Amino acid sequence: MLWALAFLPIFLSITWLYALHSASSAPSGLNITLLIAHPDDEAMFFAPTLLALAPHNNIHVLCLSTGDADGLGSIRQQELKESCKLLGIDDVDVIDDPELPDSMGVTWPADKIGSILDKYAGKAGVVLTFDQGGVSGHVNHRSLYHGAKEWTKKGGKRLWNLETLGLVRKYGFTMDAFVAPAQAASGMRFVSGMEGVRKAQRAMTDAHKSQMRWFRWGWIGLSRYMVVNDVKEISV
Ligand SMILES: *[C@@H]1O[C@H](CO)[C@@H](O)[C@H](O)[C@H]1NC(C)=O
Repeated sequence: MLWALAFLPIFLSITWLYALHSASSAPSGLNITLLIAHPDDEAMFFAPTLLALAPHNNIHVLCLSTGDADGLGSIRQQELKESCKLLGIDDVDVIDDPELPDSMGVTWPADKIGSILDKYAGKAGVVLTFDQGGVSGHVNHRSLYHGAKEWTKKGGKRLWNLETLGLVRKYGFTMDAFVAPAQAASGMRFVSGMEGVRKAQRAMTDAHKSQMRWFRWGWIGLSRYMVVNDVKEISV
């Protein structure tokens, strides 16, 4: 069995190249609001998309909590700004509102999310956020999907969702590249090269220092979301 491990780097390189080859060309000239729930969502989940879009579009990051579940909200807001800078984004707003607590047990009201979008995302033509699975399943992430969907529908905006994958693909880095090409064809696929993955990793290790506990290394090292994002436009 051990001999198989020797082929792993080769296999990974091939799948990574294949994934890079299947990447979409990035749209340009759009005003895009990335709607996230907690500081570090942008780095852990959306980095390949942000790195692909930031050079050609106006990206605004709107984070609906300070990530205060452990009392670190004020530090984490600052970390978000540093992380966004590493990812090429300067336009960041963080909301601190008692109706939107950082909590796995609280569904955030869609109308509240809508009123914040009214105030902060007026110029956005596109709202990019989680899909209804929320990637990690976090209730706050899922609330964003429902809030953004209602708001974009009402305002005639476009809605883009980051696709939630099952556990094996989630932790499989680029290894699903061969089984998922059709999916890329029906949406947008953004893929980072070596440099992009390093940037995303640095956004975690250098910017989101307060979040760097041992178990994050598994995500940083193995997650497909650090290297590939599948994004779908939803008709609302
Ligand atoms: C982007 O927003 C600016 C206002 O800040 C606006 O002038 C411009 O038309 C918008 N672009 C698109 C493509 O919506």
